[in-house]
Amino acid sequence: MHKDMVEFVRAAIARNGRPTEPFRDRFTHTLRVLKWAERLQELEGGDLEVIRTAALFHDVGWDPGRPHETVGAEITQDYLTEHGFPAEKVAAVVEAVAHHNHRDSPGPFSKETLILQDADFLDEVGVLTIVWDSMRVALQKEPSYEAAYERARKTFAQLEGWKHWLRTPSGRKLYEEQLGVLGQCLEWLKYELDR
Ligand SMILES: [Fe+2]
Ligand SMILES: [Fe+2]
Repeated sequence: MHKDMVEFVRAAIARNGRPTEPFRDRFTHTLRVLKWAERLQELEGGDLEVIRTAALFHDVGWDPGRPHETVGAEITQDYLTEHGFPAEKVAAVVEAVAHHNHRDSPGPFSKETLILQDADFLDEVGVLTIVWDSMRVALQKEPSYEAAYERARKTFAQLEGWKHWLRTPSGRKLYEEQLGVLGQCLEWLKYELDR
């Protein structure tokens, strides 16, 4: 991944004004999605360059009045065209960015788009759920281990209900593995807290 391209995305996210939850930095989310996308590509195949570039750009866009994936697709198209990417690569990356969060749409989507959809969904499912929920609870008025446990338990139930959004066999398997680990952590936490 060319460092100028990474820097372009970092700077674009930093100035696009999209509101975020505390600690949920959009650029570090992007880097984790990029890693998930690489892991999925290794298991599922697909064009690695298209997948990596699309993962990097997927959340680059923001406009309060328009879907962020549409704005992101435009920014991606302009950047890649200006930087001499071949037209067919540009089209494939733009398609993935434009549909990265269209999980309820039947498609058909390219393998690269399906991998990006799953990679985006795999971030913050698993042990990171407990970490983030705990950090979030720490900002509340009366933070406690119990409150952190309760919050993570609710997130777990929500994530359980989203299993069907996964598109690829490897994405589904990883999601279920992550949830398995999270479920076990919560069971132990419950035991340790004697609840
Ligand atoms: Fe997004
Ligand atoms: Fe995302």
